[in-house]
Amino acid sequence: MFKNLYLDAPNIGKLEKQYLSKAIDTGYVSTIGPYVSEFEEEFAKYLKIKNTVSTQSGTAALHVSLHELGIGKGDEVIAPVLTFVATVNPVVYVGAKPVFVDVDIDTWTIDPCEIEKCITKKTKAIIPVHLYGNPCNMERINAIAKKHKLYVIEDATESLGATYKAKPCGTFGDFGCFSFNGNKIITTGGGGMVAGKNDKKMKHIKFLVNQARDDAQGYYHPEIGFNYRMTNIEAAIGLAQLKRVNDFIAKKRKIHSIYQNELGNIEQIDFQKETKDAKSSWWLTCFTVNDKSDMLKLKNKLKDEGVPARRVFMPVADFPFYKKYKKENYENSYAIYENGICLPSSTLNCEKDIHNVCKIIKRFFKK
Ligand SMILES: Cc1ncc(COP(=O)(O)O)c(C=O)c1O
Repeated sequence: MFKNLYLDAPNIGKLEKQYLSKAIDTGYVSTIGPYVSEFEEEFAKYLKIKNTVSTQSGTAALHVSLHELGIGKGDEVIAPVLTFVATVNPVVYVGAKPVFVDVDIDTWTIDPCEIEKCITKKTKAIIPVHLYGNPCNMERINAIAKKHKLYVIEDATESLGATYKAKPCGTFGDFGCFSFNGNKIITTGGGGMVAGKNDKKMKHIKFLVNQARDDAQGYYHPEIGFNYRMTNIEAAIGLAQLKRVNDFIAKKRKIHSIYQNELGNIEQIDFQKETKDAKSSWWLTCFTVNDKSDMLKLKNKLKDEGVPARRVFMPVADFPFYKKYKKENYENSYAIYENGICLPSSTLNCEKDIHNVCKIIKRFFKK
């Protein structure tokens, strides 16, 4: 049995405690306080982008981005069907229609050819998702967006530290949205960030997340805003985590390479794959098993041995509210969902435990 083996648990240490205590000691525990702007600035530096605005969650970051672009009733937004539901809920919040497309069977990310087929006069935006940390083909996606005059909002919630053509994920679109939920690459407990290049739009997002409050006129609100601000205590944790981010990403990649090296030549397994232009953060390491019943048996075996594994996200079009938007069979997404499994990938895991997980998997497939 494993004592400290986790799927995606956060890695909180001394620095987080130190910054957090400072935030508490100074009394700045809410949305005012120096850590918020410091975290935003350091995050922008890390991404090599000019503007960032912190938010209450990744979902809030996606919502306020869609709102900022004026997307709403009568508009269509293209998104992969294989993702976490929070990618598409904000599309519905703003009153637009989600249009689901299939993913590539190797990368598990949105298939650019499928995007082209779905574009109509109503299409306003594409939300590519760098699923499990694996970068989408941003060159093709941006070319399609440019050709059809569409916005791109990257769902980079799982891909902090991932790059496409050596450029950070989340800096290709009009906006890039990040999540700092407890299970992500870095955490603030719960929180998010919008990254963007357009000064005016980013300034407006900063205003929107603060109840659209016009500070020059006191408590005056010229439009409808949101309370989507990050707190100083969250930002304190975030800043400490950001200082450790390179170690986290190195560890995620190490974990992935152990799985890949040990299990890569098992015939019945196919790992999610990077393209030559992409460097995944490997937020979670996942693979498909060629037989669905074997995947379920493997999952049970892992559970019996105390290994926290999880199935791949269910395609969003299968949820009751989204069934009406299901347009086709989404062959690849369903194949990945039905046969896919996510392995323990937390940066808290020790390498010896990962090797032991590999031993269990090897034994399973030898039978
Ligand atoms: C793909 C994806 N999109 C959006 C989100 C939403 O982020 P949050 O949980 O911070 O709202 C998450 C994470 O939970 C996610 O995995």
